[in-house]
Amino acid sequence: MNLKQKQAMLEAIANRIINREVEIELAQSCLNPVPGEGNADAELMFIGEAPGAKEDKLGQPFMGASGKFLGEMLNSIELKREDVFITNIVKFRPPKNRDPSQAEIKASMPILFEQIAVIRPKLVIFLGRHSMNVFFPKLKISEAHGERIEGEVVLADGNKIIQNFLPLYHPAAALYNGSMRNTLLGDFAKIPHVLELIKQ
Ligand code: URA
Repeated sequence: MNLKQKQAMLEAIANRIINREVEIELAQSCLNPVPGEGNADAELMFIGEAPGAKEDKLGQPFMGASGKFLGEMLNSIELKREDVFITNIVKFRPPKNRDPSQAEIKASMPILFEQIAVIRPKLVIFLGRHSMNVFFPKLKISEAHGERIEGEVVLADGNKIIQNFLPLYHPAAALYNGSMRNTLLGDFAKIPHVLELIKQ
């Protein structure tokens, strides 16, 4: 698939999300659906948990304090937001920022897999334990952060691919916690090297 085709397919997926064509209550109760945004050909795809108040207002992912921090960390490895693709497991804000339920996560997965299948990123980066645990329920973020994982993913079309993943602490959790912040910065700095290893 060339870039134009990928962009068109991602836009079609985003339109289904914007039209609230996902079978969960949240899709109706939120202000603005948040499909995700960025480079359709991205090597890095970042996956957070669910939109918060600011994201709900703007219809874009990671726009608040944690998004600002994410942008700074991307800059620190010579990347801009537009170079990567940023999205969430759940595309609609849960009321009062509660954690999404298992049913809401389950209903959200097919469309996330469609996004992965179009972008085919070299590395999927989990922002926080919640998104990591959707893919790897048994892992603990305190042990898994900063370590590359190879896993099998069954895509929406039934094809299986080997996908590389990297769990990181959530920027919101690390923002005001000195030691977690340093750990996250250290893990983030490893991304270019991890990417090089994958490409070899
Ligand atoms: N936290 C998330 O997990 N996702 C966002 O989009 C914003 C904050």
